Amino acid sequence: MDKITLLQTKRIILGVTGSIAAYKAVDLASKLTQTGALVDVIMTEAAQRFVTALAFQSVTGRPVYTNLWHADHSGGLPTHIAHVGLGEGADLMLIAPATAQTLAKLAGGFADNLLTVTALAARCPVAVAPAMDGGMYLHMATQANLQLLQERGVTLIEPDEGRFASGLVGRGRLPETPALLGHIRRMLGRSGPLAGCGVVVTAGGTSEAIDPVRFITNRSSGKQGYALAQAALDAGAAVTLISAAHNLPTPVGAALIPVESAREMLDAVLDHSKNADVLVMAAAVADFRPETVAEQKIKKNADDDSGISLQLARNPDILIAVKALRQSTGYPRLAVGFAAESENLLANARSKLERKGLDLLVANDISAQDAGFAVDTNRVTILDAAGGQQELPLASKAQVSEAIIERVSALLGTA
Ligand code: PMT
Repeated sequence: MDKITLLQTKRIILGVTGSIAAYKAVDLASKLTQTGALVDVIMTEAAQRFVTALAFQSVTGRPVYTNLWHADHSGGLPTHIAHVGLGEGADLMLIAPATAQTLAKLAGGFADNLLTVTALAARCPVAVAPAMDGGMYLHMATQANLQLLQERGVTLIEPDEGRFASGLVGRGRLPETPALLGHIRRMLGRSGPLAGCGVVVTAGGTSEAIDPVRFITNRSSGKQGYALAQAALDAGAAVTLISAAHNLPTPVGAALIPVESAREMLDAVLDHSKNADVLVMAAAVADFRPETVAEQKIKKNADDDSGISLQLARNPDILIAVKALRQSTGYPRLAVGFAAESENLLANARSKLERKGLDLLVANDISAQDAGFAVDTNRVTILDAAGGQQELPLASKAQVSEAIIERVSALLGTA
C-alpha cells in the first residue's frame, strides 16, 4: 500500500469492540500503518475474545492498550495516564467496529473501560463505525444513541448491507478497509487548503455509441481523474466527479455523476461548473462520434465480405464551452486542462492552454510506457498562464494529483 501524504505521522486511535467484525479492524490497522499513520489500538475485553492484542501489535508495531488501570510509558504518549495521553495526542479517534453496547455507553457518557474513558477525554474528532445484527442496528435504542452521538459531533460511518455471520441479511456490516480509509481521509482533510471550495473533476474516456451494443472509446482508465478527486478531497474540497469510467471505486465524499458520451459530459460539466471554484478536465474526451447511431444492432451480411464505413461528426470541445461560461459568469474561477501528447509535448500543450483559456495545463507525455493512459504512474509538466512551467519527475498518479492541487490552492490563494 502506498504512503498517503495526508496520513503521514497522523496519530489515530482505533477503538475495537467485541464484534465478529473485529478481524477487519486488524486489516484497517495494518493499512493505516502502511500509509504512514501512527495507530494506537484500544481493545475492550469483549474485542479480545475475537482477536488478540498481539495481532494489532504486530501490524502497527506499537503497544496495544487494553487496561484502564495499567499505566503505560512505552508509546511516547504525552502523559503516563493512558486515557488522557491517548486522547491528547490524537488527530482522530475511530471506533470500528462499534457494538450496540459501546454506542449505548458512549451516548450515556459511561466511562467504565479504557476505550469509553478515552472517548470522553478525547479532544480530536471522533467517529463510530457500527457493526451488529441488522435488527440491533435498526432498533430504536441504537438509532436514538446514534442520533444523540451525531448531535454531539460524532461522525457516523454507516454500516453496509449484506450477509451477517448468522446467515441473516440486513444493514449492520462493518464497511471494508478502503471505505473506512476514505472516511478517515475525509475527516482529516476537512480543514485543508481547499476547505469551502467546490472542485469539479472529470475522469475516464467518453464512449460514443455506434449501435445499441457497440461504441468508440479510448484507453483512459479514469485513474488520473479519480486520483485528482481524492487529492482535492484530502485538501478539504467539496468534490463533484464527472466520470466516464465505471470500474473504479468512488472516493469517499465525492459526488459521482456518471456519464457516457462527450455531449453528456459537456452538459454535466456546464451544469456543475457554474458555481464551482475549480474545474479539472482530466477526462479523455472523444473528439469525434459516429454521425448517426443505428437503432438496431448492425448486422454483417453473410454473402458479402465487404466492410462498412463509419461517418464521424465532431464532438463539442468542453473546455471551449467552459471558456465562454467563464467569460460570461466568472465561474469556474479556475480551469485546469490536460494535454495527452505523443510528440511536441510542450509546444502543443502551450497552444492548448492559450486556445482554451486555461489557468493551468498538465502536459502529459504519453510516449513512455510508464506514463499516461491506464498505468499507475505519470510524467507531467505543469504549464501556467503566466508562461511558467514545472516539470515533475515520474510519480504515482496520486503524487501528480497532489502537485496539481497544490498549484490550484496557490492560485486560489488558499495554500
Ligand atoms: O485515465 P487514465 O488512464 O489515468 O489516463 C490519464 C489521461 C492520460 C487520460 C490524462 O492524464 C490526460 O492526459 N487527459 C487528457 C487527455 C486528452 O484528451 O487530451 P487532449 O489533448 O485531447 O485534450 C486537451 C484537453 O481538452 C483535456 O483537458 C480534455 O479533457 C479537453 N477536451 C478534449 C476534447 C474535447 N472535445 N473537449 C475537451 O474539453
